[in-house]
Amino acid sequence: MPTKVIFDTDPGVDDAAALLFLNACRTVDLVGITTVFGNADIDTVTRNALYLKRRFGIDAPVARGAGRALEAEPSPPPVHVHGRNGLGDMLLEIEDLPGPDPRPAHRFIIDLVRQQEGQISIVAVGRLTNLAMALAEAPDIAGLVKEVVVMGGAFGLAGPNGNVTPVAEANIIGDPHAADIVFGTEWPVTAVGLDVTRQVVMGPASLDRLAVGGEAARFIVESTRGYRHYHMRFGVDGFYVHDSSAAAFVVDRSLFQTRRGPIRVATQGVAAGQTVQMDRMTPYPPGAWDAAPDQDVAVSVDALGVRQLILDTLSCSS
Ligand code: BDR
Ligand code: CA
Repeated sequence: MPTKVIFDTDPGVDDAAALLFLNACRTVDLVGITTVFGNADIDTVTRNALYLKRRFGIDAPVARGAGRALEAEPSPPPVHVHGRNGLGDMLLEIEDLPGPDPRPAHRFIIDLVRQQEGQISIVAVGRLTNLAMALAEAPDIAGLVKEVVVMGGAFGLAGPNGNVTPVAEANIIGDPHAADIVFGTEWPVTAVGLDVTRQVVMGPASLDRLAVGGEAARFIVESTRGYRHYHMRFGVDGFYVHDSSAAAFVVDRSLFQTRRGPIRVATQGVAAGQTVQMDRMTPYPPGAWDAAPDQDVAVSVDALGVRQLILDTLSCSS
């Protein structure tokens, strides 16, 4: 049975790559794409999702989601990472795109999860605003999803390792209140954060392979030109595979090792957006983690295996 996936996303060049990977996976049934502000404003990321849907013949409906965080003040989109149009400033043919699903993303998520009880995996690779809104309106969905896989967080396994501040990752600091709700809800969440996604790199040899692949593979090479340029500041020749690593988790979780424990998110102050998992073995006095449920954090990854899975999948697709 293929894994039914709702892909919650802010395309975003690495979001686009992850969407094309999931769409090409024979073991995945992509049942919905929900958008959320982040890498660009909500109009732009929704337009991009609809563009990708049409260009690559993706059946799944697109539902437009939240345009701002639950509480955090808006911040400018990262045009230095994803370009002004969110897709690396590629020229896009955007005339006569199909429209989105009439439902807002959080309602779309609620409906599908209720209709297909125990079957839906949500892969969330943007701000967690849509998921927090869905939980607020329909807390029952927590007991009905199969699992939630989040690309987000920086758990500091080897010291502070955020990408927006020393301790905060972009998807989490973009809506820290939503993230704290999603991690703090009794449903099965796995966080695939920067600790592991920065170990998976698409370098020159991988890009060469994609460049002689089908249309989806070639689109990834084209759309990541600026994204690769941005990565030069980290000394990376190529790009970190953030969103596709979270997508790979639902395809083959044996490529990851995880650690259990409650997760809290700092919502304000100098450490806003920091994600911290508590180790239950350490006898701390009562504190802010005690009421939170255990969740999983990816702590190690077979980086070559994840990259190979992505390359093989995209090489087999048109
Ligand atoms: C995350 O932030 C966005 O720029 C990427 O799409 C990814 O989801 C990485 O921190
Ligand atoms: Ca993203």
